[in-house]
Amino acid sequence: MRYETSSADAGSLPGTFRRATVADTARGATKMLLGKAGLSLARRLKWSLMCRWNGWGVVKKPMDPRWLEVLTDPDFKISMDEVRDISSLDTARLANLWIWCSMSESGTMVEVGAFRGGTSLHLSNRWPSRKIFVCDTFEGFASLRLDETLDTGISRGSWCNPDAAAVSRMFAERRRDAVVLAGAFPDSDHDGQIQDVSFAHIDVDIYDSCRNSLEYLSARATPGALFAVNDYLRETTRGVARAVAEFLSRHADWMAIPAFPGQALMLRRSELERRPHR
Ligand SMILES: C[S@@+](CC[C@H](N)C(=O)[O-])C[C@H]1O[C@@H](n2cnc3c(N)ncnc32)[C@H](O)[C@@H]1O
Repeated sequence: MRYETSSADAGSLPGTFRRATVADTARGATKMLLGKAGLSLARRLKWSLMCRWNGWGVVKKPMDPRWLEVLTDPDFKISMDEVRDISSLDTARLANLWIWCSMSESGTMVEVGAFRGGTSLHLSNRWPSRKIFVCDTFEGFASLRLDETLDTGISRGSWCNPDAAAVSRMFAERRRDAVVLAGAFPDSDHDGQIQDVSFAHIDVDIYDSCRNSLEYLSARATPGALFAVNDYLRETTRGVARAVAEFLSRHADWMAIPAFPGQALMLRRSELERRPHR
């Protein structure tokens, strides 16, 4: 296994990183004060409060956990423990990703919109020997174009994780073949390293990024590639559904299947005929 650093790796991130802001300094100070365990506890508390707050008025019938083999799969459970505080996805979406990623064939994996890298690590945990590209601006949406009508739910200051070096280290410590590409995707792949994509997770929230990611990755995808798109058919991220719809109108050979809660699985139609029961 090889750990490869890109020019965007480990703190020297040409053109993509701005100077430390007050928010970065405050974030760094909080990290130091709380320590790793404290930070993890704080994130859990925040997550639990957020779920409670947003749970008002929604259907209360709980999920039936019986016979959902993925939830008792030992490897899935270990991965869930590992990424719990560094992936922003809930159990249902991480379970879908685990299952879809399990179905994917050999080739490279990509996550566009990696934030703290937890979901990328989850994919890498499923296939530890496969190469993975971990892509993010690591400065949220600050330098990206927001569509005035579609990206109205997005705040420019959100999803900023200036610690790309920590994401790199996380994969290096586990001796994974990971390349962290910092900067606006797909320009961040300036050396054209991404090829033979067999699984991609596109979690970028906005129209432009979703459109560009789909075009770029589909041109480099294996015939049986599976793409998972996050935040599909959600009101606050309308740009994602629009980008998918436009992509499908340009590429009649592809299809998108919505999956609860808020994802889509995309694949070539011929793939369904080739392996209908897997
Ligand atoms: C919802 S967050 C990703 C969460 C992450 N997948 C997780 O599971 O924790 C969306 C991310 O997309 C990134 N992003 C959006 N457009 C991008 C682009 N064109 N290139 C790189 N990163 C992008 C943002 O910086 C942000 O971190």
